[in-house]
Parts: sequence; structure tokens; C-alpha cells
Amino acid sequence: MIFRVDLLLVVLHALMSTTGAWASEIPARDYANKNYFMVELDTASSSDPLTAFINQHKDVYQFEHQARGFDDHFVFSIPKGHEHNQFLGNYNSNNHHLMQKRQDFEQEYEMLVTNQNLKSIHMLVPRVLERRAPVPVEPEEYNMARGIIPIDSSQLPIKDAGEKLGINDPIFAQQWHLINTQFPGNDVNVTGLWYEGITGEGVVTSVIDDGLDYEDADLRKNFNKEGSWDFNDNTNLPKPRLFNDYHGTRCAGEIAAVKNNVCGVGVAYDSQVSGIRILSGPLTPEDEAAAMIFGLDINDIYSCSWGPTDDGRTLSAPEKIVKKAMLKGVQEGRENKGSIYVFASGNGGRSDDSCNFDGYTNSIYSITVGAIDYKGLHPLYAEACSAVMVVTYSSGSGEHIHTTDIHGKCSAQHGGTSAAAPLAAGIFSLVLQVNPDLTWRDLQYVAALSSVPVNEKDGHYQTTALGRQYSHKYGYGKVDAYRMAHFGKTWENVKPQSWYYSDVIPVDKTIKIDSSGNGDKDKIISSTLKIGKQELDVMNLERVEHVTVTVNIQSTFRGQVGARLKSPFGVTSDLASFRPHDISSQGFVDWTFSSVAHWGESGVGDWTLEVFNAPDSKGNDIKFVNWQLRLFGESQAAEQAETYDIDKDYAQVRRDRLEKSVAAPVEPSSSSSSSSTSTTELQTFTTSTKAEESVASDDESKEQEGKLPDLVSTTSAAASTTSSATSAPDDTENDSGDGKNAYGNGHSGLYFMALMAIGFIIIAAIMWFHKTPGSSRRRRRREEYEFDIIPGEDYSDSEDVDSHDSFDLGHHNDDNFSLNEERDRLYDDLNGETLPDYHEDEEMFKIGDEEEDAKKPLGKKVNFQDDVTSGSVSAPSPGH
Ligand SMILES: *[C@@H]1O[C@H](CO)[C@@H](O)[C@H](O)[C@H]1NC(C)=O
Ligand SMILES: *[C@@H]1O[C@H](CO)[C@@H](O)[C@H](O)[C@H]1NC(C)=O
Repeated sequence: MIFRVDLLLVVLHALMSTTGAWASEIPARDYANKNYFMVELDTASSSDPLTAFINQHKDVYQFEHQARGFDDHFVFSIPKGHEHNQFLGNYNSNNHHLMQKRQDFEQEYEMLVTNQNLKSIHMLVPRVLERRAPVPVEPEEYNMARGIIPIDSSQLPIKDAGEKLGINDPIFAQQWHLINTQFPGNDVNVTGLWYEGITGEGVVTSVIDDGLDYEDADLRKNFNKEGSWDFNDNTNLPKPRLFNDYHGTRCAGEIAAVKNNVCGVGVAYDSQVSGIRILSGPLTPEDEAAAMIFGLDINDIYSCSWGPTDDGRTLSAPEKIVKKAMLKGVQEGRENKGSIYVFASGNGGRSDDSCNFDGYTNSIYSITVGAIDYKGLHPLYAEACSAVMVVTYSSGSGEHIHTTDIHGKCSAQHGGTSAAAPLAAGIFSLVLQVNPDLTWRDLQYVAALSSVPVNEKDGHYQTTALGRQYSHKYGYGKVDAYRMAHFGKTWENVKPQSWYYSDVIPVDKTIKIDSSGNGDKDKIISSTLKIGKQELDVMNLERVEHVTVTVNIQSTFRGQVGARLKSPFGVTSDLASFRPHDISSQGFVDWTFSSVAHWGESGVGDWTLEVFNAPDSKGNDIKFVNWQLRLFGESQAAEQAETYDIDKDYAQVRRDRLEKSVAAPVEPSSSSSSSSTSTTELQTFTTSTKAEESVASDDESKEQEGKLPDLVSTTSAAASTTSSATSAPDDTENDSGDGKNAYGNGHSGLYFMALMAIGFIIIAAIMWFHKTPGSSRRRRRREEYEFDIIPGEDYSDSEDVDSHDSFDLGHHNDDNFSLNEERDRLYDDLNGETLPDYHEDEEMFKIGDEEEDAKKPLGKKVNFQDDVTSGSVSAPSPGH
């Protein structure tokens, strides 16, 4: 009979999950008495494995419910006191076992691991996710009352906008991030869009936070109930219930505060906001995953101003199920165009924290947003890293963001990157209103290409393959709402995503520094991976967008380990920066860094990862075990694009395809690249000599040196033994045809047609060029010229060429001339801007130094173990 009841439950829950009513059906959690875990079963063809599992373990494990949003994940619980807790742990049928085989539980253990349908078990340890650490406020700024600010002549732009748009909101004049009259130019430049009627209508942004005061007069009208849920209190409306649940409401106000006579207006004041409440209590990863994809068919954008603790010593990533949820979001959200996840870069800047140590901001599925302030300066709290895409306005230089608050008040003290992310999310909603066809990757292109570099003296900018400036502090610059929306309006969708995984590259080299600082001082462990064109061809990858690097590095003090990636194009991503507070001896276990700095590169050539010690390092031993490079980007042939599978080993896929293409040598021109497939050059250098850079690059971008303080610059002869044959520029000439043959042997008919089409396009294009004198720029590939946004220039006429997706007359590598030309123009343009003086050490706030230290023993040496290589879980340290 029990069996029947279980079955019924299963059916019920399966039904719930498809009707969308699922969220309300989650049984209340009892964290005090139960441990929860998630079981992944192969239920693709039938639900038998589930019923079998339930029955097999019904005396111990209680079936709770199906994981929300996933067909093959199920939540179970076990009483805390039960003896099975002693061996139950994470389990992955592919390789990693954290589940311990204990003497007394051998039978139970075997029962689990021999279950062919059991793919994984994950313990669901509840944790509290943290709002981005608050940035303290100066006392006089507290609790600005609702009131009208007198308007003097400098306030004319505000008066103007108010009159034209009928804005009577009392604190509108204080919302300098919308119109900055004190430091003109330091605002999001949105009024031009408002005048054009672009105010976010039809777009829904979900604020995943600590609730949303949907009854507030300033939010009520724009609140979207269907896209909202309270995961902390397991109910449908995200009411802020705790005394400090103001964060989400303030964020929501920045996005969509209604144009009325209450407080101010949102940057997209006719868009809608929903609230997903998760920060107000403990939450399991299953809840978190469900939150990230709640209302996928309603919410377009998810704004997230939270993450692992910003204390400069935490290394934490989302659990696998959360990663899967974000993947589902970008694959299925917005009618398969992909949900937009916006994350705040973090407020740990003062603790030398970096967003590369945060798996949420590091996710390629999120757009990481940093902050600049009232005067356009870099606020000290704002975290920098190679995952930062753009920045926008927030607190600093004595001002904060003025927005809606709970309890019918207005806030004059919202700040930190917490305030920057929703502002960016609001601007993205304007862009999506203008062009709803943009995919999640298109939006990232548009953000990178339309943003405006700021503080160029300060940001260690590098010129990237996009011909744009990139800074770890400012990303591709600040978001200009008008510019972004207008740029996005005519943006043609890029082709679907493709990816390339390198092999896991063994390194096994060490650096030893004793406690008085002697030893392998200035030693850099350098490992170079050479990627040949053919390897990318078989993976259908044309152009790089996101790059991730997964490392295993052991160390005595993690915060003293530095790591940077140098690309074939000559751009450097600082992956691990020094974090003095991070004295963990855990090192990096399968930790994934990401970078958006290599956007637009071909990927072909030498990628070098360098690992080194902090210059003042004492007692830190490093063992660089291995690494893997993954490139994600635009596909060559859209029709061959695949659906990404998080569990699949695409390095194996690549090897198999290469083997096949070698076995069937229809492809004569591949000889130059075939040699590179397994070439991995590992070299150790013990020198501190500054020598010329050997990584291929063209130009002035060398100024990138020294981003990590006082580090030894490039070592000599890095990658010297690798030949440059495979990156020969001229193999691009055969791109559109031959390059694909390696993988597409079975599609010759298609290719013939494609060639015909391309031929036609080429002829059409040539004729068209002849009609347009002096436009050599046009001969370049679509993306290259779209990347050049020259203010004041009308590029609307470029559409004709845009639409030829496979148009491939140009060459990947011969555009340096025109690129330089563009760069000069870009510089001119930027130099024309007047920027405020930058005061490096301007301290605006005092941050509480209660934080860190205490707990961990200092100076304990770690003994390297040999079994860490394949890694297991990424050992997230829960908030607090
Ligand atoms: C700001 O918006 C105005 C239109 O209101 C536009 O003319 C201007 O170019 C924009 N600023 C930038 C830097 O693009
Ligand atoms: C293009 O491929 C053809 C063979 O398909 C070869 O003869 C020719 O040399 C190649 N061109 C370049 C520039 O590699």
C-alpha cells in the first residue's frame, strides 16, 4: 500500500511540475531534523528507475518531491539521526565518489553505486546567500524624507525632462544616475530613449533578492505577480518580512519605480518587475536552482545582487544543479533566446576580493556588472576581474543611489555593486524592448561593443580583438543607455554557440618559498597550449566569446597564488589576483575562472597560463597540477550547432572527430594544423628577466604589463618551442568551404549549395562596393565593422551587408591596418571626452573591519597530496 501512495505522489508531482503550480507544492522543510539530498536518475524513457529507487530505500530515504524545473532530479530526505548519514555523501556515477564506503554499510553502499540508473547524488546543504556586503553610509545621508528639491538653473535638464515626460516624482531631481547636473555626463544617458518612448514596456525583470514590496505605491503598478515567488517562506508573494529585507525593493525601484508622485522613477519606468525571495533564510541548492529559473516564460531578465561572501577569502561557486538551472535559463528562457542573468561584481574591493573567486559572476551565462560613482570614478568597494563585462553607476564620492524603499519611504543610501546590477538590468530591459530578438549572447555583444571606456589612465586597458578597450576594473566601459539601445536595435543575431575543450593539461610543477621569503623567488610556471585551426573547425567554432580556465593548483596560502592567461592575440586575463586575507590551504580544486577579455579572437595559436607567487610571498608553496582551457563562441555553421550538455566531455568529442577526419583524408589542406592537435608545451622558468614577448601580437597593446602589482613581467621565450605554422593567416581564405570539410564530410550537397550562395553574395557585394567609393572598411567581415561604433557616424546603411551571415570575403588576420585606423579614431574620440580627475585614494566610507581572520591557523604548511588531480566538488564555502 505504501508503494501505491508513493507512486501516486510521483505522478502528482510530475504533473505539478508541468503545470507550473509546482512551487506551491513543496512540502515544508525541516532542517532541524532532516538532511536533504538530491538524486539524479535516468528517467528519460520511463519513471521506473524512480519508483524502484523509492522502494528500494523506502525504509530510510523519504521521497520529498521532484526538483523544480528538472525531470530527472528528485529530492529525498533522511532523518538526521539515522546511521546512514555516516556514509551518505555526494556521488557521481562518472567518476567522483565522496560517499564513503564504510564497513558497516557496505551493502547499502553497493546498492547505490551498482544502480545503473543512478547518475548522481548531491547533498542539499542549506546555506544563506548573502546580499552584496553593504557599503556604509555617511550619517547625514540617512532617511532622506520625501520632499521636493528646489530647482536652480543647473537643474534645468531635470526640469526639462520632467516637463516633457510629465515626471512629478519628488526625488527625481536627486536621481543623479538618471540626470547628473552636478557632474554632467556621469549618468546612464537615458532621457533620449525616454523621449523616443522607450521606457521598458513589455519587458519583465525579476529581482532575485530578499523580497519586493509589491504593495508600495511606487512599485504596485509595475509589479508582475506571475513571475514572483517567495522561496524562503514557500509562498507566492515575495513580501519583505524581516526588518532588513529592504535590499530587493530598492533594487526593484531602480529598475521600474513608477512615474507618479512617489519617490523617483526607474530607468525603465514602464517595464515590470517581479520578485523572487531567496536571501532571507537558509536555502538548499535545489531551491536556489528553482529560483534561477522561476517563471522562465514570464521573466526576461534576472537581476542578482548577491553571491558568496565578499570577504576576500571565500572561494565559492554555485552547486551543479544551480549551474544546470542557469544553463536551462539561457537555453529555454525568452522563447529559447535565453534569459539574461545580471550579477553584481561584488563589494569586496577593499578586502582585495576579486569576482574571479565567485562562481556566479564567473559563469559565462551571467553578465557581470561593476560600479563607477557620481564622479565617474572607481569606488574602492567594487571588485574587478576578467569576468566584468561593463560598469554602471552606484555609490561613491559622497553620493548614493536614490530609489524606492520599504515602509513607504524613499532611500537615499542604496549603493555598492548591488545597486549597479539592477540599473544595468533596467537598461537591458530598454534594449530588449527595442530589439526583442536579441539572444543572451547577442545582448553581451551589444553590451561589450556599445559601452564607453572610462578613466583610461586608471583601468589598465588593453586593446582586444574586438578593437575595443578592455579593463578588469571597468570591463568594456560604462553602459550608455541611449547608445546601447540604438546599437542593439540593428544588431543581427550571431550564429548559435559552439565550444572547444582542450585536454586536461598536466603540469605538475612547483614553486617553493620558505617562511623567510627565500626559494624560487620570481619563478613563473608557464604552460602553453597550442590550438590549431582544425581543432576549432571540428568543433564548429569560428570565434571566441567566453573563455574559461579550470585549474588544479595546490598552495599553502591560496591568496598568494597568482595566475594569468595570455591569448594568441596578446590579451592578458588576470585570473587569480592576490588576496592577502585568503590564507586557505585548500588551493584551487577544479576551480573555473572565466574571462570576457578575449571576445572576438579566432582562438587559433598559443594560449599560455602562468602561475606564480605574490612578490612578497612568505612560506607559500605552489604546485600547479593541471589545467583545461575551454573556449565558447560563435559557430561556423549554424545548422551544425549543438545543444550544450554540461556533463559531456567535449575534449573527447574533439579527439574523436579529429581522428575521424584524419582517417578519412578528404581534406588536403589540413596538414599544417594536424600536427598541433596534441602539442602541449610545458615549460618552467626561473628567471625574472624582462624579455620581449613572444606571444604573437601586433601592436601597442603591450602596455598591459604589470596589472598585478609588481609582478615579474613576461618571461623570455614563453612558448618558444611552439611553431607558428598553425596560425598562418592564410588558412582563413579557405574558411567557408574547406575548413568545414573536416567535420562535415557527409554534407557535400549542402556545402555545394552554400558555396553557390556565397559566390552569389560575393558578386553582389563586389558590385555593391563599387557603388560606394572610399569604403574599404566595408570589405571587412560583418562583425569587424559592426564593432566600430564611431559616434556621430551613421551606420544604419550597413544593414545590407549585415544580413549576409556567411559573408566571408575578409580575412581574420589582415585587418590590422584598418583596426589600427579604427583604434586611432577611437582614441581621438575618447580623448575628446573630459573626465574628472581621478583620486586614487579617495576614501569615501569606512568599512566595518569586523570581518575575517580569527578562525584559521596561520602559517600551517600543507602537504601536497597526489590524489587531488581529478578533483571532486569545488568545495564552496557557504556564506558566513
Ligand atoms: C546620449 O544620448 C544622446 C541622445 O539623448 C546621444 O545624442 C548621445 O550620443 C548619447 N551619448 C553617447 C556617449 O552616446
Ligand atoms: C585552399 O584550398 C585549396 C584546396 O582545397 C588549396 O589548393 C589552396 O592552396 C588553399 N588556399 C590557401 C590560401 O590555403
